[in-house]
Amino acid sequence: MTKVLIVDDNVPSLNRLTALVSSFGYEPITATNEVEAFELCGTSNVRTVIAKASMNGTGGLDLCRKIRSASYNGYVYVMLITDYNDQQSVIDCLDAGADNYVLQPINHQELRLQLLAGQRLVALESRDLIIFSMAKLAESRDTDTGKHLERIQEYCRVLAIELSKDEAFEDCLDSQYIQLLQMTSPLHDIGKVGIPDRVLLKPGKLNEEEFEIMKRHAELGGVTLQAAADAYPEAKFLKMAVEVAVTHHEKWNGTGYPKGLRGEEIPLSGRVVAVADVYDALRAKRVYKPAFSHDEACRIIRESSGSHFDPRIVDAFLRIEQKFDHISQQLAECIEPICTEQMCVESV
Ligand SMILES: [Fe+2]
Ligand SMILES: [Fe+2]
Repeated sequence: MTKVLIVDDNVPSLNRLTALVSSFGYEPITATNEVEAFELCGTSNVRTVIAKASMNGTGGLDLCRKIRSASYNGYVYVMLITDYNDQQSVIDCLDAGADNYVLQPINHQELRLQLLAGQRLVALESRDLIIFSMAKLAESRDTDTGKHLERIQEYCRVLAIELSKDEAFEDCLDSQYIQLLQMTSPLHDIGKVGIPDRVLLKPGKLNEEEFEIMKRHAELGGVTLQAAADAYPEAKFLKMAVEVAVTHHEKWNGTGYPKGLRGEEIPLSGRVVAVADVYDALRAKRVYKPAFSHDEACRIIRESSGSHFDPRIVDAFLRIEQKFDHISQQLAECIEPICTEQMCVESV
């Protein structure tokens, strides 16, 4: 049963709300002040909190601010109870970081639906975590690349934001697209789970035959994710995940793989991930190559504009190249890579 923490300094109203939340099928936990409630948040794995904003003065608002500045394993959805028709109180609740507010006297149906909305938000976060865990699992099989996936997410995010300022992309690159790209970019190499150990784990440069086998990871990832996308056609993130997995090794001039797509035949998501992935591979030390400096990586990407990469994306990259360097330092690898990943570098 989902736990809901209910916080109110007025015991009779606390009991009424507890009975109501219980009748909706949740497991209520109660507290009568913000200190006790904050402790429970840390120890009871609570993901939903309903608190009276004005308890003990501004206790509900203070609790909400403390929850927002704390770091928990997952997101904590907070609803604050406030007085009916008190607009300033509503503003104070939202300003304190509440996700939602409940007006007094409480409308039972409204509270039930707001709790469901909270569950949906928490479930969405779980979905993002599962996606990222799947990608991490696939990544962990071949190489200890430290925070490669975290860096890819950040590179894609900043690059897509910059690209959205280009009028050629402003219609398609909205905030939802950028969020989806950030979520799905770590899945680009998920197809490596289907590559045999002798190729994936080879501690040196791949020969031609091995490289051909390694190249299959793009299609393998696409096929796997496409099965999920067919089952849930309304899930936009799965559609984009397929694009990213299949097309992140395609090249603007048509010489990439697996299909040899050319120019705008390559989905935008794949074109953005390609730049991010190559930059990260260039900056990494591998058995067969040193780590390139940021300036060297920029030079290689600039020289690959119009051949490997979409020129507009390279232009956007060059406008914000300092952000890439910053991300690479902020999310630096703490462990030396123990194996090889030459596909990205080989292709530039
Ligand atoms: Fe790849
Ligand atoms: Fe990668």
